[in-house]
Amino acid sequence: MKDTNRVMQSYGRCCASPDFFDDFYASFLASSPAVREKFVKTDMAAQKHLLRAGILNLVLFARGMPDTKLQALGRSHSRAHLDIRPELYDLWAAALLKTIGQHDRQLEKQDLEAWNAVLNKGIDVIKSHY
Ligand code: HEM
Repeated sequence: MKDTNRVMQSYGRCCASPDFFDDFYASFLASSPAVREKFVKTDMAAQKHLLRAGILNLVLFARGMPDTKLQALGRSHSRAHLDIRPELYDLWAAALLKTIGQHDRQLEKQDLEAWNAVLNKGIDVIKSHY
């Protein structure tokens, strides 16, 4: 199966798991004070909805959609705006992969490898705007 199809199916199972986004942010916020300080004023309920679409954008880009949405994310997260340092994306991806492992009950090793490839491809675009 193609990487992006594996990821789409896995993401569907994650989104159907009620606490997926809560658990992702619990894990991401726990990973570093540098992450927590970025979200002190954030409405986390709204943020979870935004992230749901944000992850979908990473998957759609890996499936061949133009990178328009990721360019916009790159600009909003850049030094001049949210100022998200590139190394924080490693924490983001690690928290996401861990949460996928907890919520996708049918996850296979190849799915995790597919997620890794798909996330890295999009994260590279976002980081290139820092
Ligand atoms: C806002 C997605 C990585 C911190 C947002 C938004 C989206 C999003 C869709 C709202 C729209 C916007 O501001 O452009 C993503 C995706 C990421 C990612 C897909 C990974 C590829 C990160 C990382 C951090 C971060 C690593 C580090 C702490 C923030 C903050 C906001 C934000 C602080 C604004 C929250 C607020 O409105 O108070 N992100 N993000 N993001 N993101 Fe990210």
